[in-house]
Amino acid sequence: MPMPTLQIESFFDPATSTVSHLVLDPDSRACAVIDSVLDFDPKSGRTSTASAERIAARIRALDARVEWILETHVHADHLSAAPWLQQQFGGRLGIGEHIATVQAVFGRLFNAGRDFARDGSQFDHLFRDGEHFTIGNLQAEALHTPGHTPACMSYRIGDAVFVGDTLFMPDYGSARCDFPGGDARTLYRSVQRLLALPPDTRLLLCHDYSPGGRAPCWESTVADQRAHNIHVHEGVSEEDFAAMRTARDATLDTPVLMLPSVQVNMRAGHLPPAEDNGVRYLKIPLDAL
Ligand SMILES: [Fe+2]
Repeated sequence: MPMPTLQIESFFDPATSTVSHLVLDPDSRACAVIDSVLDFDPKSGRTSTASAERIAARIRALDARVEWILETHVHADHLSAAPWLQQQFGGRLGIGEHIATVQAVFGRLFNAGRDFARDGSQFDHLFRDGEHFTIGNLQAEALHTPGHTPACMSYRIGDAVFVGDTLFMPDYGSARCDFPGGDARTLYRSVQRLLALPPDTRLLLCHDYSPGGRAPCWESTVADQRAHNIHVHEGVSEEDFAAMRTARDATLDTPVLMLPSVQVNMRAGHLPPAEDNGVRYLKIPLDAL
């Protein structure tokens, strides 16, 4: 039987350099949304659904049925719009099963109360490594690709893999590994696993930072990454990668939206509960990071 073709539409958010993907099975009209963005202005504390509404408009125009709302990981640079999309369209919210490890770390950092479950139960489904699932007639597989965070997943759908923050475009390299639970050697091994896939496998990324001012792009192939990735091209050893990554991470600033993002995304994108005046608050831990 020929492999059903998938249709991919990607949405770039310039404010956070994040790419969200809509993956459609044109035959059944089933779709998945991967790594959506809830806009957040840290100066005013206002959230907005403008970015997610662009995706929503396409879902309606395509007359698509949302089966899955997927997160590759607990993002530290943007808030997730997964709950808003789920409210509009239904679908099941999924992330990797090691989310519990991330929730334990950040639950401690933010001194979240007993109402914050640390077992991933805010999500509808926790994917195991190698687990198969479907989007309409499309065959998909969840791959545990830790390193940037301990719970990072990649989703292989048809001939494309949505790699989250493992690899970036070849001219930008790889994701940082200095967040709690991150590890450069672990990321190297995850990347090797992705680069062992067939050479023409398409790799869809979660971010692009337009090095040298080029236009944003978010798709490459295994062959392209093996030949040209500035951090992990063929021939780079685990030792060399870990030394480079650790040195580079030491120079990077904390992402502007890290504290807001993490305390929302650890709750599957739900904002913290309102206080008795009806207002929701984010916390800033002082001298704790
Ligand atoms: Fe990330």
